[in-house]
Amino acid sequence: MGVHQLDLAREYGFFKEDIDRAVARVLASGRFILGVEVSSLEVEVASYCEAAFGVGVASGTDALHLALKALDIGPGQEVILPSFTFIATAEAVAYCGATPVFVDIDPRTFNMDPNKVEESISPRTRAILPVHLFGLPAPMEELREVAKAKELALVEDAAQAFGAAIKDEKVGSMGDLACFSFFPTKNLNAYGDGGMILTSREDLAQRLISLRNHGSKGRYLHQEIGFNSRLDEIQAAILRIKLSKIDWLNQQRRAVAQAYSRALAGVVEVPTEPPGYHHVYHQYTIRTPHRDALLLHLKEKGIGCQVYYPVPVHLQEPFKDTPRGTMEETEKAAQEVLSLPIHPFLTPGEVEEVIQAVLSFF
Ligand SMILES: Cc1ncc(COP(=O)(O)O)c(C=O)c1O
Repeated sequence: MGVHQLDLAREYGFFKEDIDRAVARVLASGRFILGVEVSSLEVEVASYCEAAFGVGVASGTDALHLALKALDIGPGQEVILPSFTFIATAEAVAYCGATPVFVDIDPRTFNMDPNKVEESISPRTRAILPVHLFGLPAPMEELREVAKAKELALVEDAAQAFGAAIKDEKVGSMGDLACFSFFPTKNLNAYGDGGMILTSREDLAQRLISLRNHGSKGRYLHQEIGFNSRLDEIQAAILRIKLSKIDWLNQQRRAVAQAYSRALAGVVEVPTEPPGYHHVYHQYTIRTPHRDALLLHLKEKGIGCQVYYPVPVHLQEPFKDTPRGTMEETEKAAQEVLSLPIHPFLTPGEVEEVIQAVLSFF
């Protein structure tokens, strides 16, 4: 039979009526850039995450780039981030002309190890950029303490974690700025590229509103070199529909994850959810030293699975000469991780098929 890792056609079928109506509404309005859909979504996302301001941009990568720009991060400065992430996190630092400084992960959570952050701080450090990888929040309480003590900015890469929380505090409002991606595979997803930056600092929000629109401060008045990075009205209208169901969508993912963990704990290392943490399972990522053989076995059985990430960012060509401490846990994780199919529309039969396929290997 086979199970897809993600099934966006099934998702569209579920939302079809509402989405078709919303897209038709935008088309009929004749307003496609920076209209009421984007401004409404900005207010709705900010309110969901308990931040004061949302600024819609063209992608998660742009969200990170513009967030660092708004902090005036530039050449000669350093930003501390994990290497076990999608390359966009580090690219954003490089776009600003700053230097990414990679730190190792906690092998249980796959997130930045806060104990390794302090030793990476130098007089050039300007910001800490944790990633809430796979939908599990990074240890923000610990990181916030370090950032405060050392007077560093704290920027969340929340691309994979819409709706995740620590003790009822949602990701998106835990630092100075937070960056979301609405790429089609994400928990809150558009049908094209999109992203958003949240902040509770009005000065940063104003700067971002200008930066995303050619540095403008009024019609055809420009205060700096900015960017063309705007979320479009059609995507925003689609996102508003998904946002209204996001808790249910994330709950469906959590139910799949619980079923996997019940069946697979002890056979492979299953994802952890530290006390007080609310994981939204953008990915359900297991660990096993037999990863490569298991991957082949699952592919033969038609189970869609992926390795996120086979090569950590510090070993990728553009970043291999950047400064870092030891990356032992990151490099080990890259050899052992495997992400199983997970999305809100998996059927109980498909979940069982995945479980049986994994168990049959062992
Ligand atoms: C952790 C992380 N950061 C940043 C991004 C970049 O987002 P986008 O693809 O929307 O540019 C992604 C996703 O692609 C991601 O997973």
